[in-house]
Amino acid sequence: MVRGPELVGELVRLRPFVDADAERAWELLQDPEGIRLTGTTASFTRDQVAAWVHDVQERPGRYDWAMTSAVRRDGELVSDEMLGEIVLNDLDEDARSANLRLNLLPNYRGRGYGREAISLVLDHAFAADGLGLHRVSLDVLDINPRARMLYESIGFTVEGRLREVYRDGDRWTDAIVMSILEHEWEPGRDLG
Ligand SMILES: CC(C)(COP(=O)(O)OP(=O)(O)OC[C@H]1O[C@@H](n2cnc3c(N)ncnc32)[C@H](O)[C@@H]1OP(=O)(O)O)[C@@H](O)C(=O)NCCC(=O)NCCS
Repeated sequence: MVRGPELVGELVRLRPFVDADAERAWELLQDPEGIRLTGTTASFTRDQVAAWVHDVQERPGRYDWAMTSAVRRDGELVSDEMLGEIVLNDLDEDARSANLRLNLLPNYRGRGYGREAISLVLDHAFAADGLGLHRVSLDVLDINPRARMLYESIGFTVEGRLREVYRDGDRWTDAIVMSILEHEWEPGRDLG
């Protein structure tokens, strides 16, 4: 699998993972809200996270990007620190489909980074000179209205509901399946 290209917007720059991202990737897995809203159940050691970050770019069927700031001062990037991650996984080359997931560190939520990161990835996913995909899907938990509203406003359509498929503490929660098709996406459109 080829490493994902760098994708640059006004707010965020998406770049392949580097070993130094292990600490931030670990922090993502320590955030109770992120764990709850993404339905994460597995737990990992620091060493496992570092190993994952080290070899994830070589794993087939997926493209992983670290979200970083796109801000430049005097032509130089102000920071290369990872703010979150965005992933196209379950890539099916025959059906030209993939699944999307993303997660930002708590301090960077609600600033428009997620919206722009999704837009950059969809531009690349559907472009004939990018991945040439036909369909990008995701599932979002019923307890996550922020993410669901964001996906709907970007152009994802609700396809259905997997009833009580996740645990939320001692309760159940549904997953809402959403997708966007290549002809439904307007490349480079301003989502702001
Ligand atoms: C979901 C997530 C990726 C979104 O990224 P983000 O950068 O925070 O989102 P943005 O700032 O780009 O946009 C959020 C939108 O949701 C809206 N929003 C915020 N809280 C909301 C709420 N409780 N209900 C409905 N909409 C809400 C905002 O107003 C904003 O819309 P706008 O751009 O029209 O103003 C990020 O918040 C995150 O990582 N959350 C925790 C993990 C997670 O939920 N991952 C997704 C799993 S499916």
